[in-house]
Amino acid sequence: MASLINRIRLTRDRLRPFVRPRYESDTPKIGGTGPLDPYLPPTAETLGAAAVSHEASEAVQKTLSKLTQNRDAQAGQVWHAMGRDKYGPHWRFADQLTLLWAASTLLKPTTYLEIGVCRARSAAMVAAVRPQCAIYGFDLWVPDYAGGPNPGPEFVQEELARVGHEGNLVLESGDSRTTLPAFLERHPDLYFDVITIDGAKSVPVVASDYANALPRLKVGGIVVTDDLVLFQGPRRIWDAVIERDARFVSWEFRDAGFGVAGAIRGS
Ligand SMILES: C[S@@+](CC[C@H](N)C(=O)[O-])C[C@H]1O[C@@H](n2cnc3c(N)ncnc32)[C@H](O)[C@@H]1O
Repeated sequence: MASLINRIRLTRDRLRPFVRPRYESDTPKIGGTGPLDPYLPPTAETLGAAAVSHEASEAVQKTLSKLTQNRDAQAGQVWHAMGRDKYGPHWRFADQLTLLWAASTLLKPTTYLEIGVCRARSAAMVAAVRPQCAIYGFDLWVPDYAGGPNPGPEFVQEELARVGHEGNLVLESGDSRTTLPAFLERHPDLYFDVITIDGAKSVPVVASDYANALPRLKVGGIVVTDDLVLFQGPRRIWDAVIERDARFVSWEFRDAGFGVAGAIRGS
């Protein structure tokens, strides 16, 4: 019975229309203020090359080692170290952490938005590269998320301090379908250099997160997501909202891990 209900839910999610982002023409862009600051977003291949580099792998391992240790943090460090040891210079792997290291290293963000912060492993990658970056995080703090403790805002603040974060930190608790639009309405001039969408995984919530967040991504900015192999929600929305929209060029890695992707907003 449970599996039948699940199948009905999946079919409904596959077919049901969903909310889409509404972009505005006066969105700020990264660069373009003059000859010394050209508008030159990275290509998708540049983002991907940085994400699979040994530099990214080493940086992620180093940052993970500074965080409170749990199963995921330890597994991440072991995975990166084993791949490099076994395959030497040929090792290529990307996950959300190496992709965020890449996005932060290439763009040097001053503003970062993350939906689904959990234990701040992803936010820590941005903070480690750009300690002054303002971080805006939204989470419902679902208890024991994916089998591990999900302690909440104080813990996140402490984790980011461990990697040297010095910038502004805003953490909003609650369902992102309501907290994010309410927050953005209160901050009409706030735009982000990098956005990670990694909260709930159902089609309606993922769609709502993209619809709310993407119009605030600066032109030339990067959006990152995870779990494209694991869940139908992120996959369907990424394909519909990013892959089929000429505003974006994208890069994806799904050889191993959960399936991660990043896209650069070009207009
Ligand atoms: C996959 S985890 C995020 C992992 C994090 N980005 C990282 O890399 O460390 C997903 C998070 O989304 C949160 N979440 C789930 N549903 C949500 C919702 N409707 N609104 C806001 N957050 C939600 C959970 O509490 C959980 O912390």
